Amino acid sequence: MNYAEVEERILGGTTARRGDVVITRGEGCWVYDATGKKYLDLGSAQGVAMLGHCHPRVTAAIAEQAETLTLCPNYLYNDKRAEFAQALVDVLPEHLPHVFLANSGAEAVDGALKFARLFTKRPAFVAATKGFHGRTLGALSVTWEPKYREGFLPLLEATHVQFNDAAALDKAIGDPTAAVILEVVQGESGVNVGTPDFLHAAQRLCRERGALLIVDEIQTGFGRTGTWFAIEHTGLEPDLICMAKGLGGGFPMGAFAYTRAIREVLTPGAHGSTFGGSPIACAAGLAALEAYRDEGLIRRSATLGAQMRNTLRGALEGVTAVRDIRGLGLMIAVELRTKVAPVLKSLMLTHGVISLPAGPTVLRLLPPLVISESEIDFGVQAIARAIKELEA
Ligand SMILES: Cc1ncc(COP(=O)(O)O)c(C=O)c1O
Repeated sequence: MNYAEVEERILGGTTARRGDVVITRGEGCWVYDATGKKYLDLGSAQGVAMLGHCHPRVTAAIAEQAETLTLCPNYLYNDKRAEFAQALVDVLPEHLPHVFLANSGAEAVDGALKFARLFTKRPAFVAATKGFHGRTLGALSVTWEPKYREGFLPLLEATHVQFNDAAALDKAIGDPTAAVILEVVQGESGVNVGTPDFLHAAQRLCRERGALLIVDEIQTGFGRTGTWFAIEHTGLEPDLICMAKGLGGGFPMGAFAYTRAIREVLTPGAHGSTFGGSPIACAAGLAALEAYRDEGLIRRSATLGAQMRNTLRGALEGVTAVRDIRGLGLMIAVELRTKVAPVLKSLMLTHGVISLPAGPTVLRLLPPLVISESEIDFGVQAIARAIKELEA
C-alpha cells in the first residue's frame, strides 16, 4: 500500500505535510519511517510524548488493562478510574479537588467553558490575542487566530484582549463575563510567557467581578515548563485548569479540574462523555503520572530546559537569522527573522530532526522530558546546521 497516497486521498484537506515521510514506529525520543530511517522527535508528537514514544511503563499498563477491562460507563464504578482520579488530584493544587475526564484538549476546554457558564449564569468569555485552545466550536470561540475561525462564525461570545496587557483585561471583564481563559505560556503562537502582573490581574479582576479564571495547561502541564503545572511559577490559583497532551502518557485523554464551589452547582447529567475516563485511558494516565514522579522528570525538565537554551545560544551565536531564544523548562522557542517552514523541512528531511512551528517565524521545541544530554546535543547541532545552511 502507498500509505502517503491513501492518506492524502482519504484524509487530506485539513493536513499540512512536510514531506512524504511515513512514520511506522517510535521508541523513546526517536521515531522511525517505513524505510527504517530514524528521526529525533523534538516535537513529542505535538507535545504529547512527554515520556517519549512507547514508554515501557505506559505500554505495559495499557496492555494489561486491554486484557482486563477496556470500558466501564460512568454509572458503574471502576478501580482504575478511581486510582487515576486520586493520583491526578494528588498532583493538582489543593484548591482543585475535582476533575472531569474527557478525551482531548478541546473537549476539556469546552467542558470548562460550560461549567463556567453553569456556575456564573453568564454567557460571555474573555481570552487573549494569540491564544490557542482547540478547534471544536466552544474551544474555537476562545482561540484567537482569525484564519482558524473564518468560515465557522458565529461562535460563542468572546473578546480577545492583548496578551500581557492588564489594562485591556480591566476594560474587557464585565457583567456578562462567565470566565477569562488564558495560557500561562502561549504555545502555538510562539512560546510567549505570561507576565506575573498580567496573570494575577486576570485572577484579581475575575474575583472582583464574579467571573471565573480558566487556565489552559494542555500544552504546559505535566512538567513541560519545569513544574507540574505552569501556574506554579507565579502561584496563580485559577478556578479551573484544562489538561490533555502529557496526561495519558500518549494515550488520548483530556481532563479539567475545578473547585469545591463549582462542584456544588453540578447535578447528575450536567455533563458527560461516553469514552471519557475509560479504564484503559485511566490505566495509561496512572502509569504516566507514576513515571513523571518516580523518574524525577519535572525537575529534569527545568534543568535540561535551561541547559538546552544555553547550548542553543552557544551554537547559534552571531547567526543573524536568529532573533531570540526563549522558553521555560523544556518548552523552547527559537525565533527567526525569516520564515520557519524551510528550516522545519530541512531539519526533518536532511538532518533527521522533527520540530514544530509556532506562528510563521518561530521554531518550537517540545522535547520528551526523558531526552538525554547527548540527544539534546545532537538536536541542537542539527538545528544550528539547518539554520546556518539557509542563511548561506
Ligand atoms: C494550549 C492548547 N489548548 C488546547 C489545545 C487543543 O487540544 P486538542 O488538539 O487535544 O484538542 C492545544 C493543542 O495543541 C493546546 O496547545
